[in-house]
Amino acid sequence: MLEQFEKIGKDAFKDLKKINDPTALEDFRIKYLGRKGQIIQMLSQIGQLPPDQRRTAGQLANKTKKQVTEAFEKLKESLLEARQEKAKEFIDVTLPGKPVNIGKTHVITQTTNELLEIFGRMGFAVAYGPEVEDEWHNYFALNIGPEHPARDPFDAFYIDENTLLRSHTSPVQIRVMERTKPPIRVVAPGRVYRPDTVDATHMYMFHQLEALVVDDGVSMVDMKTTIDQFIRTFFGPDIKWRLRPSFFPFTEPSAEVDLLWTDKHGKQDWMEVAGCGMVDPNVFDAVGIDKEKYTGWAFGFGIERLAMIKYGITDIRLFFENDLRFLKQF
Ligand code: PHE
Repeated sequence: MLEQFEKIGKDAFKDLKKINDPTALEDFRIKYLGRKGQIIQMLSQIGQLPPDQRRTAGQLANKTKKQVTEAFEKLKESLLEARQEKAKEFIDVTLPGKPVNIGKTHVITQTTNELLEIFGRMGFAVAYGPEVEDEWHNYFALNIGPEHPARDPFDAFYIDENTLLRSHTSPVQIRVMERTKPPIRVVAPGRVYRPDTVDATHMYMFHQLEALVVDDGVSMVDMKTTIDQFIRTFFGPDIKWRLRPSFFPFTEPSAEVDLLWTDKHGKQDWMEVAGCGMVDPNVFDAVGIDKEKYTGWAFGFGIERLAMIKYGITDIRLFFENDLRFLKQF
């Protein structure tokens, strides 16, 4: 009988090894550990043995039962785990996908592109110049002498004695005139830098759109007409703007462009958006263009300010904070 017990134990372990699904596991449980299973049956036979054999047989039977039960439980658990792993791998193709954030151009880039398109349709070519400039292009050729009091508004961040971050896009006028003969009809967009105190309408870095037209017989009327056409195309026909006399060393006469806008407090007010004027003869001298033969006009618009008025943005700092809640609106 002891041999028979041992055989049941061996068989049970052999069977256990073959199991790899829950049905086979349940069959195994019934075959060995169920109420009529071989192990339970084996235990019930112990009582029929002669008393001197009962002890050894009982110990063997109990040991077998314990080992088989433990192995069974272990296998059950590992099968369960495997099933849960499988469930994790399952892909539900009907679930909605995760939204993908698609980047887009910054509102200033969008505005610049729109400006270039409008001026492109009016026959302007596009020119670019370096953001790191020298004094000649940023100041001297533009008739801004070293001691000139009018230099203040064009104060710059210096890199070394002669090198600076351009404080306006007007140096691109000089670069274009140095390499091109009239007729000239260009716009030049780009970043400019000024050590200004930051507030709702001022920033130490911003963007300008420069324009330069040089030809014979060019007049202030051409300038005003072009500006008017541009402003109405960009803002719509109802926008109110005005030309106000001003001063720049590189234009004569000079003016500023104001647009009517609604500020932070809901108040209507004029905002200065551009400087402009007829190219000063001294500038033509500096670049070797015949001032007797040619006249020209130029302007420089602040691109942030145009965008502020167009989209009702009341603080220039919003453009540079990279807050997605702001940027996503455009
Ligand atoms: N460069 C001037 C500024 O930054 C603007 C300007 C451009 C004025 C061209 C006249 C002509 O304020």
